[in-house]
Amino acid sequence: MRVLFVCLGNICRSPTAEGVFRRELEVAGLAHRVEIDSCGIGDWHVGKAPDTRAAAAARRRGIDLSELRARQLAAEDFSRFDYLLAMDHDNLAALRQQCPDGCGAHIGLFLDFAGEVDRPVPDPYYGGEQGFEEVLDLIEAASRGLVEEIAQRLEELRH
Ligand code: 4NP
Repeated sequence: MRVLFVCLGNICRSPTAEGVFRRELEVAGLAHRVEIDSCGIGDWHVGKAPDTRAAAAARRRGIDLSELRARQLAAEDFSRFDYLLAMDHDNLAALRQQCPDGCGAHIGLFLDFAGEVDRPVPDPYYGGEQGFEEVLDLIEAASRGLVEEIAQRLEELRH
C-alpha cells in the first residue's frame, strides 16, 4: 500500500503528516506494509528540509522530520500511489486537475480519515506557533483513522 501526502510547499503540513503517520503505522506494527511519501503542488521549496517551526513542533511530540526534503508532485505519482491525500481544498483541486483519466487512486482530503466532512488542515505558514500545534492535533487524528482503514484493507487482501 502506498500513501502520498500533498500540501502546497511540502515543508509544513505534508512532511508533518508523513512523520506522524509513519509513527502511527509503527505503533500498529504495519510500517513494513506501507510506503509513505509527501510532496508539494508548488516548486518553491524543492530540496529544502521542513520548516523549522514544523520540525520543532513535531520534535516536541517525539517525531523527527530532519531527513525529509521537499519535492513537487509528479505525473508518475498518480500511478505509483494508492492514496493521494490533500491537506486543503486548493491542493485537492490541483490533484484532481492533474489526475490522468482512469486513475484508480483514492484522491481526497486527509481529514476525511478523522471523521471530518470537508475540513482542511489550515496552512500554518504565515501564522504563529499555535498553528503548528493545531496542524499536529488534526494530523494525529486523521493518521489514526487512516491506519485503521489501511489495516482493514490489508486484512481483506489476505482473504
Ligand atoms: P505547506 O505550507 O503547504 O504546509 O508546506 C506552506 C509552505 C510554504 C508556502 C505556503 C505554505 N509558501 O507560500 O511559500
